[in-house]
Amino acid sequence: CMSISIAPSILSADFCNLERDLDAIHAADLVHIDVMDHHFVPNLTIGEPVVKRICEVSKLPTDVHLMIDDPDRWAPQFAQNGADSVTFHMGATHAPVRLARQLHDMGTKACFAVRPAEPVEPIFDILSEFDMILIMTVEPGFGGQKFLDNQLGKVRRLRDEITRQGLNTRVEVDGGVSPKTAPLVAAAGADVLVAGSAVYGAPDITEAITSIREAAEK
Ligand code: DX5
Ligand code: ZN
Repeated sequence: CMSISIAPSILSADFCNLERDLDAIHAADLVHIDVMDHHFVPNLTIGEPVVKRICEVSKLPTDVHLMIDDPDRWAPQFAQNGADSVTFHMGATHAPVRLARQLHDMGTKACFAVRPAEPVEPIFDILSEFDMILIMTVEPGFGGQKFLDNQLGKVRRLRDEITRQGLNTRVEVDGGVSPKTAPLVAAAGADVLVAGSAVYGAPDITEAITSIREAAEK
């Protein structure tokens, strides 16, 4: 049985009470930080100065998800600003292997992300370059969207290939993860579960994190 990590997304936090909302997720394993640029996705969130402060203040490791154009140019700044892991998208990156190696040289983990219409198979030959692969289970851009169960086959094919190659690459899913969908993604082979609205929208944040974890570990 794989050990599951829960990564609450602060996209659903109160941006006027970020420190309070970071403290509120102490029961989780990572904090997921969504960076959007109004170009790669039709939404705009936070940039380097805010991410830098979150990395300084957070007691949990930081999982920075870049939904931006030209991460080849911008991702190293997030590593410089203290991100423990930086995720960049297949649909935006020109030289993913070069970028992953650059991040590793800076002591930062590298994660490659695919959107719902993008196949995971093109990554198979470069899997060993990454610490984690992110399978989006919604179209990126917004919290609170409906989970796409048509992505479960992709998660399973990726997990099988990781096993076949004998790697310990983590498989992250992002979008529509809740206590209801957590068992599905975990059974398909995901071991890092991002959850925004299911955590911050819940009346009790600790209880929400625990119930996603327990649902995934069943
Ligand atoms: C969506 C972001 C997600 C988002 C998930 O583009 O990448 O991290 O916060 O939110 P939920 O869990 O509400 O679908
Ligand atoms: Zn995300």
